[in-house]
Amino acid sequence: MELIVAVYDDWGIGCCGTQPIALSADRKFFRETTRGAMVIAGRRTIADFPGQKPLPGRVNVAISRNVKEIPGFTVCATVEEAAKLAQTAPRAMVIGGGSIYKQMLPYCDTAYITKVHVTTQSDTFFPNLDEREDWYLAETLQSGEENGITYEMLLYKRKIKEPQK
Ligand SMILES: NC(=O)c1ccc[n+]([C@@H]2O[C@H](COP(=O)([O-])OP(=O)(O)OC[C@H]3O[C@@H](n4cnc5c(N)ncnc54)[C@H](OP(=O)(O)O)[C@@H]3O)[C@@H](O)[C@H]2O)c1
Repeated sequence: MELIVAVYDDWGIGCCGTQPIALSADRKFFRETTRGAMVIAGRRTIADFPGQKPLPGRVNVAISRNVKEIPGFTVCATVEEAAKLAQTAPRAMVIGGGSIYKQMLPYCDTAYITKVHVTTQSDTFFPNLDEREDWYLAETLQSGEENGITYEMLLYKRKIKEPQK
């Protein structure tokens, strides 16, 4: 399984249920990278989707303990159920948020990480893969600057080929 996330310099990913700084270049990268894939998100991240609608051109999976049905989404009650469902898709990507990234990281072997080089206040964080021995930076895919903010789209890979779970 794969994941995609945008992190600030302190590996913060969001505040108050949303992303305080979101670059259009990263939105484009997200659209292109997830196109056609199964995308898996926690219920709080879905609450931040435009109109809380499923992302077009993708198979949308929501994870929630409390909500049983969300129009346009297949709802899973556990991360294990979502991981099992992911095995039925040619490509499945975890798209957030903080709690789902943490719980599903052990299932992933590929991470698309956009580093947005700013410091901003976050209340939700992604694990710092630069400090983890089980992950390495494999490739810089893109880099640029938008509104004075530099960014890089990076591909991280798990060192052990098989995911841990
Ligand atoms: N920078 C990025 O790339 C990026 C991407 C996505 C999200 N974000 C940010 O991340 C933040 C949201 O993250 P978050 O951690 O607060 O919420 P989240 O991970 O999106 O969703 C949390 C919800 O998922 C459900 N859930 C979590 N673990 C579960 C489990 N084991 N079994 C069943 N359901 C489970 C629960 O839903 P119920 O309450 O319905 O039971 C829980 O409230 C926002 O600030 C958002 O903007 C950033």
